[in-house]
Amino acid sequence: MATREAYSQSPKKKVPLFPLLSLLCFTSIFLLLSQFTTTSSPSINHSLPTFHKHPRASCNFSHGTWITHPPRIPTYDHTCKEIFKGWNCLSANKSNARHLPTWRWQPRHCDLPQFHPLDFLRTHTHTAIGFVGDSLNRNMFVSLFCALKSASEGQVKKWRPAGADRGFTFLAYNLTIAYHRTNLLARYGSWSASDKGGALETLGFREGFRVDVDVPDSTWAKALSFHDILIFNTGHWWWAPSKFDPVKSPMLFFKNGQPVIPPLRSGQGLDMVLEHMIKYVEKNARPGAVKFFRTQSPRHFEGGDWDQGGSCQRDRPLSIEQVEELFSVKNNGTNVETRLVNKHLYKALEGSGFIILDVTHMSEFRADAHPSSAGGKKHDDCMHWCLPGITDTWNDLFIELLNSNYQE
Ligand SMILES: *[C@@H]1O[C@H](CO)[C@@H](O)[C@H](O)[C@H]1NC(C)=O
Ligand SMILES: *[C@@H]1O[C@H](CO)[C@@H](O)[C@H](O)[C@H]1NC(C)=O
Ligand SMILES: *[C@@H]1O[C@H](CO)[C@@H](O)[C@H](O)[C@H]1NC(C)=O
Ligand SMILES: *[C@@H]1O[C@H](CO)[C@@H](O)[C@H](O)[C@H]1NC(C)=O
Ligand SMILES: *[C@@H]1O[C@H](CO)[C@@H](O)[C@H](O)[C@H]1NC(C)=O
Repeated sequence: MATREAYSQSPKKKVPLFPLLSLLCFTSIFLLLSQFTTTSSPSINHSLPTFHKHPRASCNFSHGTWITHPPRIPTYDHTCKEIFKGWNCLSANKSNARHLPTWRWQPRHCDLPQFHPLDFLRTHTHTAIGFVGDSLNRNMFVSLFCALKSASEGQVKKWRPAGADRGFTFLAYNLTIAYHRTNLLARYGSWSASDKGGALETLGFREGFRVDVDVPDSTWAKALSFHDILIFNTGHWWWAPSKFDPVKSPMLFFKNGQPVIPPLRSGQGLDMVLEHMIKYVEKNARPGAVKFFRTQSPRHFEGGDWDQGGSCQRDRPLSIEQVEELFSVKNNGTNVETRLVNKHLYKALEGSGFIILDVTHMSEFRADAHPSSAGGKKHDDCMHWCLPGITDTWNDLFIELLNSNYQE
């Protein structure tokens, strides 16, 4: 853990106090205080623009608007090999692909600086960062990978650490980033009625998916002892009737290996899964690990859902009025799950040691930023995001929160 001192990035640097707490007694912290405040890391470029209108602690990064002057400058392009084909809107010639990543999120009362990939590599040496969640977390992982790859010196080793779907180590910095694929966080698999009968069989269930609310998916269960920084998400699969059809293939929740009776609706199951998974992470994460939970990524299907010919053909961000019309829960529109999922997340995360990475509201404006018909599927993709694109801004926010977490 000796490398933790590298976590301060702002020139107005204070002390990386938090991760050391578990390791040191108070007397030595006072010694460290005097030491670190007078030392600055040589890798920091002090001439980088710093613009904080207000102390960051008081800033609501979710409240703001998208602007183009000054623009956000994409730090990578379509040549980044890790970009999944369907998300590579530049290669697919989506008409606004060049323009959409240049919108910059401007919070109302402060600024969200664009993160500097080379600084990040230099200040986060000997660190492992795990993204744990569905394909939207992979989209964010790829964004971070491409930005770092374009700035890094030296070789990048491709491997699959700790059960990851994919991962990379930037060898010159010993910085590892990995993506752990899991749809529900909890383990699940198909279930069918047993001849011997049982509680679910008695209630008439024949087919479905067994979801073990208290068992983490094997893709990430062991990742906790590996990563220093974790970013979780879940959401889309809980509102996916095409997979978990409430009648033909319902989610059937199990706890301690036994079916939960009476059966839960998916929202109740989500609450139970979140409760157990959050506890599991709090108990098993490395001492001093920084844990983020990302809020729901909005979809922008208009004129029907994905399988009903819905599309997203806008070429600029929505207005605030359009956002409310599309996402307000009381309108019960096609993408209503966006804010509903967040209610479950906020309830479950209250009082936990997780930092909430709230990307929802800023992303709700960006109906222009999905692959749409350039995704190369039979239907429009109004769920994932073009890369480069808005998950670059999610990473700006992640890194801003990460760095301020180490300065409090
Ligand atoms: C530091 O950042 C400034 C402003 O972005 C840039 O002009 C300068 O070249 C950088 N210096 C180094 C040594 O990277
Ligand atoms: C931050 O801003 C968002 C979007 O305007 C709002 O929904 C939320 O309540 C605000 N949070 C706080 C703590 O004020
Ligand atoms: C995109 O446009 C370029 C240049 O016009 C062309 O070579 C390429 O085949 C196009 N790609 C697709 C997927 O249509
Ligand atoms: C590389 O970083 C990991 C933490 O991610 C650390 O456990 C390991 O000791 C580091 N390796 C070297 C050679 O410093
Ligand atoms: C919301 O809309 C869906 C689909 O259009 C419908 O099945 C559901 O009953 C509606 N829910 C409410 C609370 O109105």
